[in-house]
Amino acid sequence: MVILRSILTCCVLSTHVFVTSSQATNLPPAPSGGMFTVDTRVVINSTAAAAYQALIDFPNYASWNPFVRAAIVISPLNLTLPDQRPVEGKDLYLRVQIPPLPFPVNKNTPDDPLATQLSYEKITAVQPKLGRLAWKFQPDTPGVFQAERWQAVSDLGNGCVLYESREVFIGAAAVVLRETMGANLQKGFDAQGLGLKMLLEDGSK
Ligand SMILES: *[C@@H]1O[C@H](CO)[C@@H](O)[C@H](O)[C@H]1NC(C)=O
Ligand SMILES: *[C@@H]1O[C@H](CO)[C@@H](O)[C@H](O)[C@H]1NC(C)=O
Repeated sequence: MVILRSILTCCVLSTHVFVTSSQATNLPPAPSGGMFTVDTRVVINSTAAAAYQALIDFPNYASWNPFVRAAIVISPLNLTLPDQRPVEGKDLYLRVQIPPLPFPVNKNTPDDPLATQLSYEKITAVQPKLGRLAWKFQPDTPGVFQAERWQAVSDLGNGCVLYESREVFIGAAAVVLRETMGANLQKGFDAQGLGLKMLLEDGSK
């Protein structure tokens, strides 16, 4: 009941973050065999189009995202491509903060060097009509380490959208990641959801 009420009143209580456990989801089915999963759900007073646009606007991430500080579409040789829009099959370089930076962040907020992690990903889904975006850790190594991060936005029909993200970590090396960074990765996903909510509801960035 509390969860349902939160969604229905999201626009009134829009300064709160609602992490719901409701079953309704716009994410595809989770893969099996994961060692652990990191996920988040946040209700935002915005439109699905605006939320999706914010997710695919990689050059603007640093202005609002305390977790992913840089997402750069690159060539296979790690050169920054002139067109930074995500395209399925393209390579993506990420510079993230685990744990995330404290709020507030802007494009000039420096990294915490102790929290900085780099990763190389392959963009696997750019689905504007479904409101979905995904990328997959490289090298994708079955049995050792596999991880695909999905993000999705969906219209709740009451002036609000649901932002969701989920990453299932698969393979022997995922156990190590869980022990060393699992809790802080969860904080990162939650912080990105809150940052997106602040960006879209405040509108000043
Ligand atoms: C790839 O490029 C980024 C900057 O766009 C740089 O920070 C990173 O070190 C590069 N990686 C390699 C392996 O050269
Ligand atoms: C969302 O926020 C705007 C102000 O930014 C407000 O006018 C509106 O009533 C809120 N609720 C909905 C359902 O849009």
